[in-house]
Amino acid sequence: MSEDDNDQVANNNATAGTTTLDPKAEERIRMLAKVVCICKGINLGRVLKGMEGCETVQDVNRKVGTGSGGCAGERCGPRIKVLLQKKKEQKQGRP
Ligand code: FES
Repeated sequence: MSEDDNDQVANNNATAGTTTLDPKAEERIRMLAKVVCICKGINLGRVLKGMEGCETVQDVNRKVGTGSGGCAGERCGPRIKVLLQKKKEQKQGRP
């Protein structure tokens, strides 16, 4: 869903007098709000998108730009490691 689509959904809801959002728009907003790399301001959506084809935290760091901030990945590295593990488990069919 593009940002224009999100605006359209928000506008439609605003004119209808409701505060609900399309579930896809809500999910996108949630991912944008979750910051994985605090130093570089890189959100969850960007990390998940960039994780495709990555096997290690270093792969993700190189591709997305995480891990290059003031903490040198001490804060975001463990989060990315968990995301990679979850992705691996999903591929293997585990919950
Ligand atoms: S939080 Fe990612 S480099 Fe510090």
